[in-house]
Amino acid sequence: MSSYNIALNFEDGVTRFVECKAGEKVLDAAFRARINLPMDCSDGVCGTCKCRAESGAYDLGDDYIEDALSDDEKETGLVLTCQMVPQSDCVIAVPASSVVCKTEQSKFAATVAKVEPHNDAAVVLEFDVEAAAPVFLAGQYVNIDVPGSGQHRSYSFSSAPGESKVSFLIKKIAGGVMSTWLESAQPGDKTQLTGPLGSFYLRPVERPLLFLAGGTGLAPFLSMLEVLYRTNAQQRVHLIYGVTRDLDLVQTDAIAAYAMKLPHFTYSTVVADAESNHPRKGWVTQHMSAESLNDGDVDVYLCGPPPMVDAVRKYFDDTGVKPNSFHYEKFTPNAAPETA
Ligand code: FES
Repeated sequence: MSSYNIALNFEDGVTRFVECKAGEKVLDAAFRARINLPMDCSDGVCGTCKCRAESGAYDLGDDYIEDALSDDEKETGLVLTCQMVPQSDCVIAVPASSVVCKTEQSKFAATVAKVEPHNDAAVVLEFDVEAAAPVFLAGQYVNIDVPGSGQHRSYSFSSAPGESKVSFLIKKIAGGVMSTWLESAQPGDKTQLTGPLGSFYLRPVERPLLFLAGGTGLAPFLSMLEVLYRTNAQQRVHLIYGVTRDLDLVQTDAIAAYAMKLPHFTYSTVVADAESNHPRKGWVTQHMSAESLNDGDVDVYLCGPPPMVDAVRKYFDDTGVKPNSFHYEKFTPNAAPETA
């Protein structure tokens, strides 16, 4: 391979992808892309360019000094971008905002390819994107301009990175700006996507995973499941998909298909409505088995409304379960998601 794809995730959630040629240092590749990563000496001396490599293989060489990057820091994934030479695609968390680094979100022209209602509760919206498909990390979101409104709304990709079409799972909201546009949207309609955004994305899979989806918070998990399938993930993955009403359970066929083709993947659905005849009722926290929590040796990902995030966090506090990591994205209609 003559070049690698490097995702730079800034602390404000903006992500830019840069091409790093074989043997090239990340700082130089970013500079070529007109991104001013934090730096001073560019010589491995000052430590100003310190970032965190979240995934990927790389070489730091031995031309930097211990004051700039200690062995302990190196062990925890910290890197000096002025020394780092990638040996694979990498994801790097930059401890500075995109504004400070003088870069901004990418914009992509998009054409509606499909508008597919599901149970009158949600819509699958699919776009063809002009030029290269937006590069994103599974779990991230974009802002979609709503034609004719002067407004945008934020949605997680339900499709996986690298596909020619991008898709989203959109909750129907009576009178909502996006829902109103979707009532008349047709294949061929044009709009614009801005992003990708967010620090809610799939990290390297090193232990069992527990996915908790609330309503249309299912979308990023569909993207992640496709990545897990493509990469032949060998860890156990369990998804609990909780909704309010029976009719809010959508895209269960897609989930079932992953259960067939991903050998270590299991899932369950939960309906909160007391009137429902669903076999599992209540909240996702009532259906988190000891096996899925694996004595805390588990990475937990949650995408759902704020009360669900609070309930799961309280569950961990009350039960003393301390997962290895807990990544979440809270979303409320009409607001940009909050990630952690
Ligand atoms: Fe000084 Fe990298 S810029 S150590």
